[in-house]
Amino acid sequence: MNKLAFKKCLLIVTGSIAAYKTPDIVRRMRDQGAEVRVVLTSAATEFVTPLALQAVSGNEVRQDLFDHQAEAGMGHIELARWADAIVIAPASADYIAKLSKGSADDLSTAICRASEAPMLIAPAMNQQMWENSFTKEALDVLSEKGFCVCGPDSGSQACGEVGLGRLVEAEILIESIASLFNSGSLAKLRVMVTAGPTREYIDPVRYLTNQSSGKMGYALARAACEAGANVILISGPTNLEPPQGVGVEYISSAKEMASSVSEGIGEIDIFIGCAAVSDYRPEAVSDQKIKKSDSTLSLKLIPNKDILSGVAGLTNAPFTVGFAAETEELERFARDKMTKKGVDMIAANLVDKDGLGFNSDDNEVTVFWENESYVLEKQPKEQLARKLVTLISRVYQKNP
Ligand code: PMT
Repeated sequence: MNKLAFKKCLLIVTGSIAAYKTPDIVRRMRDQGAEVRVVLTSAATEFVTPLALQAVSGNEVRQDLFDHQAEAGMGHIELARWADAIVIAPASADYIAKLSKGSADDLSTAICRASEAPMLIAPAMNQQMWENSFTKEALDVLSEKGFCVCGPDSGSQACGEVGLGRLVEAEILIESIASLFNSGSLAKLRVMVTAGPTREYIDPVRYLTNQSSGKMGYALARAACEAGANVILISGPTNLEPPQGVGVEYISSAKEMASSVSEGIGEIDIFIGCAAVSDYRPEAVSDQKIKKSDSTLSLKLIPNKDILSGVAGLTNAPFTVGFAAETEELERFARDKMTKKGVDMIAANLVDKDGLGFNSDDNEVTVFWENESYVLEKQPKEQLARKLVTLISRVYQKNP
């Protein structure tokens, strides 16, 4: 199981002897699918080298607050935005005290101040230092501020003493990092997501389709699953691995998608229509490959059923979220679709911008519901999906 698939994890290594274990931790995080970047405090460099961590992470290791190579010279902001989760391991007694006082005078503490990502602290220190009330008070402050604490373990220590203060084992640390993403905001709910393109066949070898890769819909299915939902993904043809823990039904045409949706929809609490469903299909599909000729060829297209408005119009309809792919007048067209299709919420994206929308790794959406709206700025689809799922769950809890 890839427990950290598609997660961008920033590891902050501080000045504790347990820092020597971090190359192994980084390797195991990557084995679990994480992309890892490392920041070292200056004390940490006494115990582990930047080169070792660069080699195992595959990324440059950062140490300095002022980085003239970084975007706009503000490496801390860039890294704070990049991270899906921040892991401070090992966290020394001094570092915990410093962080609890709100210091932001070096790269790692400035990142912690500037980031909205969930943060995990794995303390490691001498057992007497761990028992000291300063340590306990500092960790209480950090827990109140939303930091999760993992460990420490008990056992023999590098200083020769025995007691609590060892860095937790790598497997435990990885479990704890993975649990940062399990918000439980959709616990016990059943969610259906549609994703990818449809194919409308003309003859046995040719079809009408679009550029949807399925990335946005798969990311939403994964995020809903991490939020505790029981998820079913109805997917058009894509090259993507099915998200773990998600039930997937593969379809090809809009008609097949409509029938898969209608079979399962009775059980569903939240429906998210992210698929780029073809609006039309050829009226007639040739049984044999159409032969080339010198004359023109006309295709008569007939409209496909609108799956989203069909779901929204059901008696006892689930909470229904649509997408709007627009090339102009985003708000007007998206709100218009929301009303016409009768959906509770719509996520609108401009699909004529480079690197956004169809078949890109990043996206930017404006979400509309009732009289409200919220912008999720350009970011990787995986990250955006987690934020969108949080927003959906908030609005849903108000109108279940
Ligand atoms: O798959 P990716 O490469 O990651 O790209 C993501 C995306 C651009 C496909 C995605 O973000 C997106 O915008 N999906 C909706 C695409 C679309 O078909 O938009 P639309 O504005 O034409 O349709 C509006 C809504 O009606 C959509 O929720 C669509 O699923 C739904 N619809 C449309 C036609 C139809 N016959 N049935 C439907 O349910």
